[in-house]
Amino acid sequence: MKASIIVFSPSGHTLKAAQVFKRELENKNIGVQLINITKNSKYLQSSQAERYLGEELDEHDVLLIGGPVYAGHIEKNILRLIELLPEAGGKYGDLAVPFITYGGVHSSIALEEMGRYLKRKNRQSILGVKIAAEHTLTKTFAKVINGTKPGQLEEKIIADAVDRMISIAGRDDKKTKDAGKSFLYSKLSERILYHIFSQEFFHKKFKDVNIDLQKCLKCKKCIEVCPVNMFDYVDGTVKMVRDKKECILCAECYHECPADAIRNPYMEVARKRLKDGCAELEKEQSAIYPAAGDLF
Ligand SMILES: Cc1cc2nc3c(=O)[nH]c(=O)nc-3n(C[C@H](O)[C@H](O)[C@H](O)COP(=O)(O)O)c2cc1C
Repeated sequence: MKASIIVFSPSGHTLKAAQVFKRELENKNIGVQLINITKNSKYLQSSQAERYLGEELDEHDVLLIGGPVYAGHIEKNILRLIELLPEAGGKYGDLAVPFITYGGVHSSIALEEMGRYLKRKNRQSILGVKIAAEHTLTKTFAKVINGTKPGQLEEKIIADAVDRMISIAGRDDKKTKDAGKSFLYSKLSERILYHIFSQEFFHKKFKDVNIDLQKCLKCKKCIEVCPVNMFDYVDGTVKMVRDKKECILCAECYHECPADAIRNPYMEVARKRLKDGCAELEKEQSAIYPAAGDLF
């Protein structure tokens, strides 16, 4: 059996989860390819992304694909990548395992969206994994949400998911059912809300991150940390070189700037929405769907 993992991880937590998946799979002697699209202009900025993916994606039986939850949705860059995937068939098996990391507040329709998009590519989600992680917007809040996650508990859940994945993928009959329906775990009212309001709806009015050049030390840290390459060093100054709407509001530049030179209008909104780190958390923080009792 062979597996490929594709991950987008602006702040590193989904990447950590992907690496745990890889380790657990390799411990079971399964060959694993890991494609990290974070900061990767081939996938994020090129009109040839589909071709690159076709060239780079190895033969596999199972495709694991992961990204963070942003505003109750799966972050749009990883969703776009699913749209660019070659259809299952030939050297690509049709089994998929979507996984998400989220700040523990609401994962809403993120896994469901991934399942739906994977289905369009002829891929059946045999299970989905929801992993609690540090809420990266709360890094500088009075109380950091889930600051130590993903930790041991989440690693155990990933190990269990790998065991289940191997047992389902190894079945002889290959008549595996799509588990996408089990991703509808959020309350109906919440699902309806996030179906109506897109990620862009919640974020677009705040996409006005800019640099205070009076404060900027030209250390280029923002260039280094931006997962979607918004910044570059041009004519002796750090500049935003992509359209502001491509900014994903991850706030990595804001958190990492040593001179407090990044203005990010979303941070104050997030501070209020997340009550400075005291937001109510989703009941089941990390889980595998379908639940063990509902195995098909
Ligand atoms: C712009 C933005 C929106 C977010 N929206 C949510 C959300 O709706 N629910 C939630 O629980 N966490 C939310 N988070 C937290 C991330 O999902 C969480 O920190 C995730 O693990 C980040 O993954 P990464 O480290 O791979 O980037 C949000 C974070 C950012 C930056």
